Amino acid sequence: MPVIKVNEKPAWRNGEFLKENAVRAFCPVVQSPAMNKAAFDSDNDGSLYIMEHSQECERLRRKTIPERVLAQASWAGLKPGMRVLDAGCGPGFTTRILNDFGTDAMGCDWAPRRIESARREHPDLRFEVADISNSLEQLGRFDFIWVRFVLEYNGRKASEIIRRLKASLNPGGILCCIDLDHNCLNHYPMDARLEATLKSCIDHLYKKLDWDPFVGRKLYTYLFDAEYSSIAVEAGSQHCIYGQLSDTDTMNWLKKLQVAVKQSGYPFEEYGGSFDAFFEEAWAFFNNPRRFTYTPLIMACGKV
Ligand SMILES: C[S@@+](CC[C@H](N)C(=O)[O-])C[C@H]1O[C@@H](n2cnc3c(N)ncnc32)[C@H](O)[C@@H]1O
Repeated sequence: MPVIKVNEKPAWRNGEFLKENAVRAFCPVVQSPAMNKAAFDSDNDGSLYIMEHSQECERLRRKTIPERVLAQASWAGLKPGMRVLDAGCGPGFTTRILNDFGTDAMGCDWAPRRIESARREHPDLRFEVADISNSLEQLGRFDFIWVRFVLEYNGRKASEIIRRLKASLNPGGILCCIDLDHNCLNHYPMDARLEATLKSCIDHLYKKLDWDPFVGRKLYTYLFDAEYSSIAVEAGSQHCIYGQLSDTDTMNWLKKLQVAVKQSGYPFEEYGGSFDAFFEEAWAFFNNPRRFTYTPLIMACGKV
């Protein structure tokens, strides 16, 4: 048996390393591969969010590493005392972290179920249902707007969202956008059929559901075109997976496959039309400690 090292995740810059020690204890919620379509449909509250399902709150909880959130927000210029909007806040875990840094933070999300969870988890914080591609005038103005892992779900609207958010910032206010690049596409050694299917499925998600796996590399240009000033950019890695999957990565990648990929409507012709046949091969790949998978992370911030 090869010796498997516990994964240490490279941080977002300067060769710093952060361990995933802030992730909460894992409880066995990982489901069988056969999460069926009827269950998904009854889970989905009608939003266009392609990761919508009953365990999304738990997936986001496990993905949220407080030290990483604070390192990223501080890099962008977050300071205690600022009024902060967590735009696309999900269940509010990031809103809580930003608020507890000494800011006055609130969150908004277009999914009513995310906002229900956020209000339940953090009754002392303000959360509102709002689509950030529309006017956010009703929420007032902010010194800092945090938009992390949201623009990928708004591919064709992302540039317009960045432009519009200027209207929600106070003079000197900061927009911080963080997203993945070449998302879900970097794996080795992957069988040619599996790799081609994954790529076609991701193309399909872009065309049909506006999910952009390349939004990370576009952030700088979107900020530049919207005439933000003092723009800064950092590139790092979000996932760097080798050896045995951690519990968090297990849940994250299972859900990506079982929810976004399965419900994409992609026909899986390469596998005789069977999602299950595709899933079996894909999961065997992810579960093999010999594979290497990584995802670039791009952070871009600018001021008004
Ligand atoms: C992956 S979660 C990210 C949560 C959090 N921002 C973070 O940093 O961990 C993406 C969230 O963005 C929300 N979202 C996507 N597009 C949105 C939009 N146009 N307006 C508001 N919320 C949106 C989804 O409902 C989901 O809760």
